Amino acid sequence: METKIIKVSPKGIETDYEVLIEPATALRNGELVAFPTETVYGIGANSLLDDSVRKIFEVKGRPQDNPLIVHLHSKDIIGKYAIISNEVEEGIISKFMPGPITVVLRNRGVVSSVATAGLDTVGIRIPYNIIAQKLLELAGVPVSAPSANLSGKPSATDPVSVIEDFKGRIPYIIDGGRTHIGIESTVVMVKEEVDKFRILILRPGFITKEDLEGFVSENKFSKPVFVEYSENFSSERPISPGQKYRHYSPKSKVVLLNDKSKLDEFFRVVGNGRIGILGRFDFINDLEVYLINLGFKDILKVEWCGNDLLECARNLFLYYRFFDREGVEFILVENLGDSGIAYSIMNRVRKSASYVL
Ligand code: TXA
Ligand code: MG
Repeated sequence: METKIIKVSPKGIETDYEVLIEPATALRNGELVAFPTETVYGIGANSLLDDSVRKIFEVKGRPQDNPLIVHLHSKDIIGKYAIISNEVEEGIISKFMPGPITVVLRNRGVVSSVATAGLDTVGIRIPYNIIAQKLLELAGVPVSAPSANLSGKPSATDPVSVIEDFKGRIPYIIDGGRTHIGIESTVVMVKEEVDKFRILILRPGFITKEDLEGFVSENKFSKPVFVEYSENFSSERPISPGQKYRHYSPKSKVVLLNDKSKLDEFFRVVGNGRIGILGRFDFINDLEVYLINLGFKDILKVEWCGNDLLECARNLFLYYRFFDREGVEFILVENLGDSGIAYSIMNRVRKSASYVL
């Protein structure tokens, strides 16, 4: 299959949107189109067509029981596909959408059950990326879109990565440059109980637990509202089926490094090849010296970000793929801690890690 790569500059979108008409029409007619959002690239299909949605699972190699998020261009049309059941869902939608959040709502049963994996809920997201919005608006249909990576691999946050995974396998890739946030949306679900509401964070993301707590304290709800991480929820049927699969893994083996004194023994056991180091300035330089003193020579260090952790979020998957291309065997990753956005970043690192030392 020939893949048309369409380059769009976000600044020019208001005048350049004509280039999106062809992929938007193809999308509506059942073809797959990869497109940028503010979080990561998505690979979209018309949510109303079973066969179109099936193609996504095939082309990604994605397990059938992992539901897809439905993307809409405006919150005004959420009610066509989902039921907003309470004041907290309402409040989250009005505060955080459009933006990097997915809200799991009651399903109206309008979108393909292939897309929702037969669940009675549906994840809804309204991206703020202008290219995504315009494409969705022109397509005129809800669009189911997982991250644009082969299943298990790091999410694609730049056009090169999308092309690497999907060129020749889907008809359209929209190149909108690097994505701004770099990790996927926060997935939340609201549970109403007799005496309280609970906001469950099924997948942490750019919108943090602290942000949600701030939102709760700014509002007056009829019952107390609690915000909880629920990503470790495990049972036969996890709330968010994506939780049970290994994710985001490059070919290089990721080692989350808390204690460098374990490295000597570690490499003696697993053997060693080219070593990558991903961390902030002090971490990468200290570790490089440490490894050289242990006798290692083939080391590739990359400065993850400066003091701005948002930069770490933006760079994570890009650097994972970079290390792969450089033939690195192990990537030693700094632990950024667990408050705010660092929690969301480290969630991705943990899920991708082969080892924690
Ligand atoms: O930022 C993002 O969310 C990106 C861009 C493209 O929008 N999309 C994305 O999709 O990351 P995906 O398919 O890679 O991850 C979707 C996550 C999975 O963990 C899935 O299990 C969960 O959302 N999910 C989707 N629908 C759900 C539902 N009805 N109930 C619970 N979890 C759901
Ligand atoms: Mg994904």
